[in-house]
Amino acid sequence: MKELVKKLTEAYGPSGFEAQVRAIITAEVKGLADEVRTDGMGNLFALKKGRDSSHRALVAAHMDEIGVMVTHVDKDGFARFTRIGGVRPLGLPGARVVFANGLMGSIGLEKLEDRTKIPDLDKMFIDVGAKDKESCPVKVGDAATFWQPFAAQHGRWIAKAFDDRIGCAVLIETLRTMPQPAYDTYFVFTAQEEVGVRGATVAAFGVEPDYAIAVDVTPTGDTPESHPMNVGIGKGPAIKVMDRGMIVHQGLKDWMIRTAEEVGIPYQLEVLEFGSTDAMAMQTTKEGVPAGVLSIPTRHVHSPSEMVDEGDVQNSVKLLAALLSRPVSLE
Ligand code: CO
Ligand code: ZN
Repeated sequence: MKELVKKLTEAYGPSGFEAQVRAIITAEVKGLADEVRTDGMGNLFALKKGRDSSHRALVAAHMDEIGVMVTHVDKDGFARFTRIGGVRPLGLPGARVVFANGLMGSIGLEKLEDRTKIPDLDKMFIDVGAKDKESCPVKVGDAATFWQPFAAQHGRWIAKAFDDRIGCAVLIETLRTMPQPAYDTYFVFTAQEEVGVRGATVAAFGVEPDYAIAVDVTPTGDTPESHPMNVGIGKGPAIKVMDRGMIVHQGLKDWMIRTAEEVGIPYQLEVLEFGSTDAMAMQTTKEGVPAGVLSIPTRHVHSPSEMVDEGDVQNSVKLLAALLSRPVSLE
């Protein structure tokens, strides 16, 4: 699974530019699913037929990652940029970004008037080493992501874009290892989550599932002076109760907890005071869909070097497989 995670996290795929990630995932799921298709938003669907085809389950993980987009190239060939999704200025100066064609850029910083204030993106620029505007290979509208190689050491993994390629990896691995699911199950790899759960909005509308689960990362409260939070890495997958975008269906949440306990998988309960996931869009589609979230605890979310625990990832696969292989209980 490590090789798959390396391939997925190192791939290029800011919101709206998911094609390279979609190609990797398509190659992985082709031989595993009964049907593979895409839609007009760029979502990728892999259907696995269930024992009972009168019900549908939907599990989703988003393919896109945060990034930056070029807004202007000056006469000397330096590119100004804006954010795609929740990019924080603190991690940017000195970071390396990569464009769709593999071109690298270094993020530079203007001379600062006030060194006590965190500069915003308008004080920064991407330097691709161009000599002037005319010969600059980067154009307005080009998008880039952080460039960082995957690393694994003593059971912890470090990479960019665990949000949410680790969710994509969990879905693929579940599809690969699980027995036949209880219901017709749509493994959906969504587009444009980081800019407002846009892919999941139409995916859930199209599938009309009986229940839906998003698999995504959650920040943790286990680093120095972090915002207090009851989630840490290495303590098992987190079952979401609430975030800023949704309150999880009570019956579905209780069923997820019961299943984890029956299968003997450690779990944590997640109450997140900011952010949300695809489940927020899935919950409010059509007449409303019972929706929940299986979260992979992740440190340093939205930084160029996020961190997860390998055991949490393995247990997330086990929990998702256990959930999908049994009839849902929403009591
Ligand atoms: Co995110
Ligand atoms: Zn995410």
